Amino acid sequence: MKITRLWLLNFRNYENATLDFADNNLIVGTNGAGKTNVLEAIDILATSRSKIVNGLNKCIRYGQPGFAINGRFDFAQRPSLTVALRQERGAGRVIKINEETLSRASELLGRVNSVLFLPSDLEIIHGQPVQRRKYLDIVISQAEPEYCRALQIYVRALKQRNELLKNMRNGQSGDLSVWDAQLADCAAQVKLKRQEYLEFFARETAQFYNAMGFAGQLTLKYKTKTLSDKQKNLEVLQSSRAEDLRFGRTHFGPHTDDFEVYLDENKAAEFCSQGQKRLISIAFKCAEAKIKRQKLDDPPIVLIDDVLLELDLVRLNKIIAAIAPRSQKIFTVTDTGRFAPELLKDMRIIKLENGRLV
Ligand SMILES: Nc1ncnc2c1ncn2[C@@H]1O[C@H](COP(=O)(O)OP(=O)(O)OP(=O)(O)O)[C@@H](O)[C@H]1O
Ligand SMILES: [Mg+2]
Repeated sequence: MKITRLWLLNFRNYENATLDFADNNLIVGTNGAGKTNVLEAIDILATSRSKIVNGLNKCIRYGQPGFAINGRFDFAQRPSLTVALRQERGAGRVIKINEETLSRASELLGRVNSVLFLPSDLEIIHGQPVQRRKYLDIVISQAEPEYCRALQIYVRALKQRNELLKNMRNGQSGDLSVWDAQLADCAAQVKLKRQEYLEFFARETAQFYNAMGFAGQLTLKYKTKTLSDKQKNLEVLQSSRAEDLRFGRTHFGPHTDDFEVYLDENKAAEFCSQGQKRLISIAFKCAEAKIKRQKLDDPPIVLIDDVLLELDLVRLNKIIAAIAPRSQKIFTVTDTGRFAPELLKDMRIIKLENGRLV
């Protein structure tokens, strides 16, 4: 799939702008011109969330009541799609596909697919467990919307159970069994999917890492106590009630999951150089693009913000050729100097200045 046109109204530093895209695009502009904002906007149309800030209100242009983003998407085998998202300050998102309003944001998942490479992707390697869970959850949810539903039920039940635990700790009576049953069931579903996707990531990241020209064996370790059998999860939840009551929160379940990345049996977060971590995070994104291509049988839009620019030219050009070969690509750079002339000749150059096309 590809985005052919993007329209931004009062989004970040854009007052009103329309951008047209080809198969390969290079967005060029000085620091602060609004390059990352364009990639963020496209990714918001895919996920209904920002990967850069929490809460879409922060994306509203200063002094304005709200923003709107519209995108037109073309597919190889299907009719094209218009996705529109509006956010008024303090209100909920309104999302429309082909003029039809969605009743929930999760209905957007899987319709538009993008893979966003950001400088902050390093957090997949050395960030907090919550950041890794979030990364994994978004990838799986985009590829399999049923996963998102199981996760939403899990998160709601967990919140209710924790509230009840706190009340019971303060002497109120209560019955945990309804929440236990819901949690045990969803926990098993979430665990199975995370395991499946982490196995895929393990295989693919190792391959991409070596394909980029680096030696070393990359492996992933899924760290979880959650079981894939709901009855067994229920038993653990029931047997840990005393501890949960003492602390007023649920200790067992996928909300405590994590995964670790190893390079030749050394933990990457502690052992790898900045450059190696960067390459591993790029390998994750390449694997993500492959997952989406396979699950959704249409190559995702690949959005690459700055990240490749730390690399030397030979690797840069090699990686660009390897990243999702059939995908539409949108790169951002402050200057075109680092791109090989043969890469530049296929690119549409989009020049930006202060939230405007020039
Ligand atoms: N809510 C907002 N309202 C108005 N302007 C905003 C808002 N949020 C961010 N900006 C402006 O957007 C600009 C940053 O845009 P962006 O991050 O896309 O720049 P960039 O071209 O990617 O720069 P760099 O090369 O440094 O990464 C800044 O000038 C910032 O002040
Ligand atoms: Mg930027």
